[in-house]
Amino acid sequence: LDNGLMLTPPMGWLAWERYRCNIDCRTDPKNCISERLFRDMADRLLEDGWRELGYEYVNIDDCWAAKQRDEQGRLVADPERFPSGIPALADYVHARGLKLGIYGDLGTYTCGGYPGTTLDYIETDALTFASWGVDMLKLDGCYSNATEQAEGYPLMSKALNATGRPIAFSCSWPAYQGGLPPQINYTVLGEACNLWRNYDDIEDSWGSVLSIVDWFFNNQDVLQPAAGPGKWNDPDMVVLEESKSQMALWAILAAPLFMSNDLRTLSDEARAILQNKMLISIDQDPLGIQGRRVIKEKSNIEVYLRPLAKSASAVVFFSRRTDMPYRYQTSLKNLNYTSGVYMAHDVFTGEMVQNLSDATNFTITINPSGVVMWYVYPVKLRELGNSSVLSVL
Ligand code: DGJ
Repeated sequence: LDNGLMLTPPMGWLAWERYRCNIDCRTDPKNCISERLFRDMADRLLEDGWRELGYEYVNIDDCWAAKQRDEQGRLVADPERFPSGIPALADYVHARGLKLGIYGDLGTYTCGGYPGTTLDYIETDALTFASWGVDMLKLDGCYSNATEQAEGYPLMSKALNATGRPIAFSCSWPAYQGGLPPQINYTVLGEACNLWRNYDDIEDSWGSVLSIVDWFFNNQDVLQPAAGPGKWNDPDMVVLEESKSQMALWAILAAPLFMSNDLRTLSDEARAILQNKMLISIDQDPLGIQGRRVIKEKSNIEVYLRPLAKSASAVVFFSRRTDMPYRYQTSLKNLNYTSGVYMAHDVFTGEMVQNLSDATNFTITINPSGVVMWYVYPVKLRELGNSSVLSVL
């Protein structure tokens, strides 16, 4: 969507995967969907170094609203769980240099049973969100049909634009229509939305991450050209705290990085993965080209490649094996690199592989369910006088 927003994939925190529709603030005050949860996460994003790395959105998902619209037909937040109201929450978030996202559903009800946005409410709700100071809308698709969605998503896009407030627009549309042509026209989607959920909801399991990875890379011929600055495929939230593999593959996918974990209790190890600067700069690469799976070996090793700015690239060697670390031998030539000399920087260990010619065979060891991720660039770039690797990113 050409509204000047999200020229690189958005990053932030989103409540759904971890906190779902927990509205029981009496017994679980710290974790229920309430203004306290979002304030807590805004504090964490600011104070624990997330914001300066690009994690800037604090996003509300389902179950924030009261069960009824007000007398003027406007959505209202649940008065017990959001006693200060959404505008106050937006102020709180903005005061910390962050942005607030909210959730709606194109249909009679949200998936959780709260008031939905039927076609006749689109304009009202867009105006309400803008008047509250919201910066992003995720519009879900429960309780509507394909015809209503084909009308409603572009209509909401126009309505948000007409409010005059920059509001990024996340569409769940393709996820409700199988995610593929002919049901989904990715050109239309790219014109109406800044990002879109294409596929199933992520769950907190390795099986769920794998099924998403499979779907996205098996359909890469359709999905990969659809992504670019201002319009991103969304494989859903980053969930597994220990997961280098998920983060590496999400960066190859140029995926939005919305974390859905408890930032108040995150382990140091998980934080280091989510705050890895080289990994973030790969995800946020300004060219905005989504990567592709280039090799699928019988040994259950797969290789993924994403072209990056300044002739650099990211390579992920991924093992789907579950037995033991695997020694994988290949060369850059095998991965279709043009002839030349390259430098490879291991994104997780920081190790450098110097003077790697395209023809050199090398062997790497990949852990089961694990990855080795390299940032690769032609040596010439380094000789131009950049002593620090990050400066060429
Ligand atoms: C389905 C969506 O795909 C999820 O991400 C979440 O928003 C739930 N609905 C909320 O009910």
